[in-house]
Amino acid sequence: MTASTASAGSTDPGVAVLEWARELTGPALRSWTERLPPAVAGWAGYHLGLQDEAGRPLRGYWGKAVRPALVLTCAEAVGGGARDAVRAAVAVELVHNFSLLHDDVIDQDALRRHRPTVWKLFGVPAAVLTGDALLALAHRVLAAVPGPETVSSIAMLSGAVEELVEGEALDVVFERRSEVTTAEYAAMATAKTGSLMGAACGLGALAGGADAERALPLVEFGRHLGLAFQIVDDLLGVFGDPRTTGKPVGSDIAARKKTYPVLAALASGAAQGRTLAGLYASGDPLSEADLRWAALLVTDAGGVRAARLAVERELEAAFAALAEAEPAADSRRDLTALAHVLTRRNA
Ligand code: IPE
Ligand code: IPE
Ligand code: MG
Ligand code: MG
Repeated sequence: MTASTASAGSTDPGVAVLEWARELTGPALRSWTERLPPAVAGWAGYHLGLQDEAGRPLRGYWGKAVRPALVLTCAEAVGGGARDAVRAAVAVELVHNFSLLHDDVIDQDALRRHRPTVWKLFGVPAAVLTGDALLALAHRVLAAVPGPETVSSIAMLSGAVEELVEGEALDVVFERRSEVTTAEYAAMATAKTGSLMGAACGLGALAGGADAERALPLVEFGRHLGLAFQIVDDLLGVFGDPRTTGKPVGSDIAARKKTYPVLAALASGAAQGRTLAGLYASGDPLSEADLRWAALLVTDAGGVRAARLAVERELEAAFAALAEAEPAADSRRDLTALAHVLTRRNA
C-alpha cells in the first residue's frame, strides 16, 4: 500500500504522506527509545514528547515526520515495501533528533516543538548526552538486522552525519564573518540539512532493494529538497509565528546568522540592505524593536522575494532529479506532494 492509497483523513496529499509516515514509524521509534541507557531515557522521552518534564506519559509529538516520510516513500519508489523501510526511518529520525538536541544548545534556543528545550530545562550536559545516545542508537537500529544493504546503509548514514556536522560548524563560523556569499550559504545549508534528507531518500531506496547507483538520483532529490526546506525554515525564523512553528522567532537575526533572506538583502544593493549591514556589524545586543526593524529591512531590500525564488529553483532541481529516478507513478505523486507541502509550510 502506498501513502496515496493509504491517505486517511487529510485532504492535502502531502500532509497525508506525513501522517502515514508518522503512524508507520511512531511505534518503532518509541520501542527503540525505550532501549536507551536509563540515565538519558527520560530526557529523550521528554524531547520526543513521550513524557512531560516530571516523567508523566504523553501521547508523543516528535515532529512532522519529514525524514521518515522520505525514507518510506523512496523505498516504494524503487519497488520495495514501506514496512521493510521502517527501521531505516527510525534510524534517520533518531539522527535528526540528535542534531536538534545539539543544535538548540549551539543556537541557545529555548523553544522546540512548542516546549522548552532539553538544555533549557535539564541543562546543557543533559542535551549533549541525550543527543549522543540517540546518534549511537540510530546506528544500533541499522545494525540490528544484518541484511544485504546493512553496511551500505550504515556508511550512508555516517557520511550524512559527518556532513551535517560540517554544515553546523560552518553555520556557526558564518555568524562571525561579515562576507558570506549565497553560494557559500547553499553549501552550508545543503550540508546541515540536505545531507540528512538526501540520506533519508538513499536509505529508503536501499531498504527498498535498490543498489547504490539506483539510489543516487533519489539522494539528489532529497539534497535539493533539503536546501529548499532550510530556506523556508530561514523565512519562518524571521516571519513565522511561534504559536505555529513552536520555535523562537528573531533568534537567527539576534545571533547574526547568515540566513538566505538576510544574505539576499545584504547583497541587494538597496539602501535597506546597507542599513541591515550596519545592524549586523554592530556588536550590540538587538532589542525586540531592532529585530522587528531588521525583519522589515529584509523584506524591503527584496530578501523575502529572493528567498522564495531560491526555494522554487531548488524545487525544480529536486523534481529534475526525481524524474531521473523514474519512480512508480504513485510514489512520484507522493514525493511531489511531499515536496510541495514542505516548501509551503508555516510550521
Ligand atoms: C528542523 O527540522 C531542522 C531543520 C532542518 C530546519 P524539522 O522542521 O523537520 O523538525 P521537526 O522534526 O518537524 O520538529
Ligand atoms: C537546522 O538548523 C539543521 C540542523 C538541526 C542540523 P537550524 O538551527 O537552522 O534549525 P532550527 O530552526 O533550529 O530548527
Ligand atoms: Mg537552530
Ligand atoms: Mg542552527
